[in-house]
Amino acid sequence: MNMTRNIEFKTSVAVDLSGLDVTAKKLQELVAREKPKGQHHMKYTPMDLRAARYRAAGLDPDNFPSLLENINVPPVLVSRMTKGGVGKTSCSVNLAAALGMMGFRVLLIDADPQASATNLAMGTTEGADVEHHIGYFLLKKDSSPDADLEDALIHVYEGGFFDLLPSDITLAEADASMVTAVNSHERAHRFFQRNREFLGNRYDVIIVDTAPGTTPIGLSFTYAGKAAGKIVSIVEPVGDCIRALESLHSNLHELKSVTDADISMEIVINKWHPSLKHVKDNMGVLYTKYGPNLNDTIIPQFSGFARQMDPTNKMSCPLVESDPTSVGARAMIDVAKSMIRSFGISHPGLVMNREEGA
Ligand SMILES: Nc1ncnc2c1ncn2[C@@H]1O[C@H](COP(=O)(O)OP(=O)(O)OP(=O)(O)O)[C@@H](O)[C@H]1O
Ligand SMILES: [Mg+2]
Repeated sequence: MNMTRNIEFKTSVAVDLSGLDVTAKKLQELVAREKPKGQHHMKYTPMDLRAARYRAAGLDPDNFPSLLENINVPPVLVSRMTKGGVGKTSCSVNLAAALGMMGFRVLLIDADPQASATNLAMGTTEGADVEHHIGYFLLKKDSSPDADLEDALIHVYEGGFFDLLPSDITLAEADASMVTAVNSHERAHRFFQRNREFLGNRYDVIIVDTAPGTTPIGLSFTYAGKAAGKIVSIVEPVGDCIRALESLHSNLHELKSVTDADISMEIVINKWHPSLKHVKDNMGVLYTKYGPNLNDTIIPQFSGFARQMDPTNKMSCPLVESDPTSVGARAMIDVAKSMIRSFGISHPGLVMNREEGA
């Protein structure tokens, strides 16, 4: 069943996704590929945008300075919120799709037994054939690399631009076993460290979708956020969500006081609606209390997100893929671009502008 998708998009979308601030003509020059005969309009691929980014930096995409001596875990984005239904999965999967379409090689880890990221990434409601989920790897005591990690992955996009470590309901049992596991909070960090060679060679970024609440697996990935120095918190501008944000904030403080992890939050506001009074009031609260931590882009309430998982639609998939010029998708693409800067997401041999102090 697990079908790998071949991703193509039109010129205007390619120009936007490239992040290069170039004209369509210049982009085609950088891509250096002719329109195939018989094709009416040029269709771009993730590989094209990757090649364009190398050429724009004056490098040959097939022959760039190697960093192989220094393979490290790529930037890890962990999306967290203790409250359910705020859009963690919608954001994780659409960010993964946006970055994959841009030509970054993405690994999405579904760390929620509900497996909604697995379903949304794969465009199914049926679940995936799960060989091993993340719980299996977190419970291992090994310190050597996981030889069975590669076989556990599902290729969502052609070309290695979007891979998935899928989940299913049995992840809940692993979560329960984590309660009694020694040093359970360090397990995700150790998983990344022992597999750094494989992960560093294969991916430019890793995105983790966690379950709501504070489960041992969620906490373990929060701790793993210490490598990036921050986690991504998705909030809805409603009262109980702001209270949940406060509890997550104090979680991070607690983690700092008992471990070596100093982790801040990058907050993404989702399901914003301009005309609701309580939304306006809560936006004020968010700006006052968390101003410096807020992402510039606010993701609006947008009906297209709900249609992503339409069981009657066989072609359901992330919004940025099905409708990349829609209001919701454009907001997701903006957030993805800001994450490139703030998490230092890049290609091997290419150092891109990383924000000061990020
Ligand atoms: N910006 C948005 N506009 C409209 N609907 C949205 C938006 N973001 C998410 N949704 C919808 O809200 C519901 C919950 O979203 P999602 O599953 O992403 O949240 P979650 O935080 O991952 O939930 P859970 O806590 O269960 O894991 C879904 O039906 C989704 O389509
Ligand atoms: Mg979810």
